[in-house]
Amino acid sequence: MTTHKAIIQLEASGPLSVTHLGPHALNDHQILVKVEAVALNPGEQKMIDLGLRSTYPYVPGADLCGTVVEIGSAVKQFNIGDRIISLQMTPDTERSGALQDFVVAEADLSAKVPDHYTPIEACTLPVVLLTNFAAFYTMRWRFPFESHEKLDEPILVWGGGSGVGQAAISLLKLSGYTSIITTAAIKREKYLKSLGASFVVDYKDEECLDKINHFLADRPLMKAIDTISSAESSSSVMQLVAPGGQVAYVLPVPDLAKRSEVQSEAVFCGMFHDNSKSNAELRKFGAEKIWPMIQRILASKDYPLQPQLVLEGNSDDILERVTKGFDIVRKASADGKKVVIPWQK
Ligand SMILES: NC(=O)c1ccc[n+]([C@@H]2O[C@H](COP(=O)([O-])OP(=O)(O)OC[C@H]3O[C@@H](n4cnc5c(N)ncnc54)[C@H](OP(=O)(O)O)[C@@H]3O)[C@@H](O)[C@H]2O)c1
Repeated sequence: MTTHKAIIQLEASGPLSVTHLGPHALNDHQILVKVEAVALNPGEQKMIDLGLRSTYPYVPGADLCGTVVEIGSAVKQFNIGDRIISLQMTPDTERSGALQDFVVAEADLSAKVPDHYTPIEACTLPVVLLTNFAAFYTMRWRFPFESHEKLDEPILVWGGGSGVGQAAISLLKLSGYTSIITTAAIKREKYLKSLGASFVVDYKDEECLDKINHFLADRPLMKAIDTISSAESSSSVMQLVAPGGQVAYVLPVPDLAKRSEVQSEAVFCGMFHDNSKSNAELRKFGAEKIWPMIQRILASKDYPLQPQLVLEGNSDDILERVTKGFDIVRKASADGKKVVIPWQK
């Protein structure tokens, strides 16, 4: 195999450009994947804009769907030709960053995509699922498929219109929650209710907090996930949660938005993907529990995928499409859709 095309950032906060990388070598537990579709996320956009990496060059791209073209000698779960999704989260982004023709993925942190999903659909899943699972794990909330028993305690998803928020509602429903409160643009009410929300209120409504308290009536709110985690959203969520309750944030929030009687934790989608020895237990949990659960979600034909904003094109205009895609992510102007770059043409 010769070298292949990749999108790269050569230095902190510098422009993206096209380069050629590879060929990539595999260890015994890895797979080489021909990339078919990549979903773009605010995390990568912030890395690009804010120069947050400890090393450069940086090849962005975390949400991947592609076809296995080579397998390490110890890999048992995949065959050449299988279509997979993975979360590409290793520090070595020149081999793992998804925005390139061929990437190296960890076999035990990947899942096989059934034929009922296209690559464009399937690539929307890893980041949003794993962010929520990081919250469920950290807060010891019930995972999907764990029990058939319903949970009628109220739970709040602040930011149900975001990609992470939509997935939070769908996953909480799969876990058995029947009283899911969410905040979003009110035009999303019908859609978010179809995912499993019981009560939708517009976060721009001046009476938003009062309306949520009215819905709660005398039930204390003990669990919340703030999928926006801005100064504004975190302050609102903290006003709603009862003493002894829990709030999962998706970004670090200012101390001002914390209360000593409420457990608040910032969670990270790469939580189960750290290959360092100090995180061996978490990685094992990722391989043995989290990715099989993602496999089960993929197998169930009825998991509601986030709608996609697809930036079609070909290999020649790939830099323009990726640049445009990150601009949409930067402005949060995808209107509830996941920005997806189809890769191979
Ligand atoms: N910790 C991690 O590992 C991790 C992983 C993924 C994402 N994140 C972070 O999570 C955040 C969301 O990411 P995403 O990809 O889900 O974003 P996204 O899909 O781009 O979210 C955009 C949507 O957020 C909603 N929104 C904006 N401000 C809001 C507010 N004050 N209250 C309620 N909703 C608001 C809007 O929904 P409406 O259209 O309904 O108004 C907007 O359409 C980002 O900050 C991202 O960096 C963290």
